[in-house]
Amino acid sequence: MIRIAIIGSGYVGLVTGVCLSDFGWQVICVDRNEESIHKLNTGVPAIYEPGLEDLLIKNLNNKRVSFTTDIKEAVNASDVIFIAVGTPQKENGSADLTNVYEAAHQIGSFMKQSKIIVNKSTVPVGTGQAVKKIIREELTLRGMDFSFDVVSNPEFLRQGSAIQDFTHADRVVIGAESKEAIEMMKEIYRVLYLNETPFLIVNIETAEMVKYASNAFLAAKISFVNELSELCEKTGANIQQVAKGMGMDGRIGYKFLHAGPGYGGSCFPKDTKALLHIGEVNHCSLGIVKATIDANEKQKHRMVRMVLQAMGSLKGKTLGILGLAFKNNTDDMREAPSLTILGELALQGASFRIYDPKAMQNALPLLAAKQIPVLECCEDEYHTALGADAVILMTEWNQFRSLDLDKLKYGMRDLYFFDFRNIYSKEIMAEKGFYYYCVGRA
Ligand code: UDX
Repeated sequence: MIRIAIIGSGYVGLVTGVCLSDFGWQVICVDRNEESIHKLNTGVPAIYEPGLEDLLIKNLNNKRVSFTTDIKEAVNASDVIFIAVGTPQKENGSADLTNVYEAAHQIGSFMKQSKIIVNKSTVPVGTGQAVKKIIREELTLRGMDFSFDVVSNPEFLRQGSAIQDFTHADRVVIGAESKEAIEMMKEIYRVLYLNETPFLIVNIETAEMVKYASNAFLAAKISFVNELSELCEKTGANIQQVAKGMGMDGRIGYKFLHAGPGYGGSCFPKDTKALLHIGEVNHCSLGIVKATIDANEKQKHRMVRMVLQAMGSLKGKTLGILGLAFKNNTDDMREAPSLTILGELALQGASFRIYDPKAMQNALPLLAAKQIPVLECCEDEYHTALGADAVILMTEWNQFRSLDLDKLKYGMRDLYFFDFRNIYSKEIMAEKGFYYYCVGRA
């Protein structure tokens, strides 16, 4: 039985801990947030993620997963320690590694025998070696001299499908320096290994780079279609069909070519900026990454312009907002395009009726901080449209895909419909009497 400690019970740490316990290992998760640890021990996760709560309760009942605020206890009770703490963005765009380094100091100061330390946090190239140095220094301070391994094992989870992504990963990337560490990592992921999931075994630096490279490339795909969406609008082309035609080329692929209001979330915005910063530090100009970031900002402003051009002045106008989260199936509001877009529309005089199936609680303080005037927090789609001059479909929640359009328009003051996720057909919307606007479909 492999004994695993996970330091950091946020999004990645919690999903990793619960899934590894479900693989059959004994897992102890640590976090300094007492309230959230208490709740987790009673089977209540602090985040909304489909399937997570059931898996948590199952493995709490099996006594395979537990939660503590005591990092010393967790370090001593484990053979392998995962670091899964946050690496937020600093003002200059770089990743703030304070939490990672603090975890390394603590591990080094409590470790009494050889262990494997696995870094899952998204970190700049070179962090694995820095972690190794910190742990070695802590051991030396205590007069100890035994070997240990540091491994990089980046995570590619998507919010909203994190459990599925963990248990059916496209690949497992392991950056390691010893045969023992590689064998241990393969054993931990035995379930995936047996399922013929590809394993990429590389050095620590390469594994660290794979994570940033993957996220930046995906973000670039989105920015590319978003940029072309404007050209499609101006030339009479249809971005959805263009993306389909591109995707038919196996070298391009269909995925991540959906035009929309710009990417958001806890990863793409932060990781693209961090990669740009790593480039600057290493005197490499990453022009494509820079253009990706710029195009994403532009796309959000373009959505605002679309509304203004269609509706004219927004003074005294009420906009009904369907969805606030940065994407569907999550309650996460980090870097959500809705915040920028609503902020700018508010400056033009608009007020809002808002609804999101899961993100309302997280959204409200952020909207308040930006002084975005919310007239009413609504109960559902139809309540949101009541008395509104326009509806903006911001997030592609499944329940917004099959709206009863007659019911929706029934209480509306005017019939503008902005579909930022390209869900509806122009013909049907016109038939129903809406002034319909979408992204990249002229
Ligand atoms: C992403 C990566 O996919 C994941 O591998 C990594 O570990 C963390 O970052 P996540 O942020 O959860 O995951 O969401 P994702 O589904 O990738 O979407 C990110 C953003 O891109 C969302 O705002 C989404 O709406 C947008 N997006 C995605 C598009 O606008 N168009 C697309 O075609 C795909």
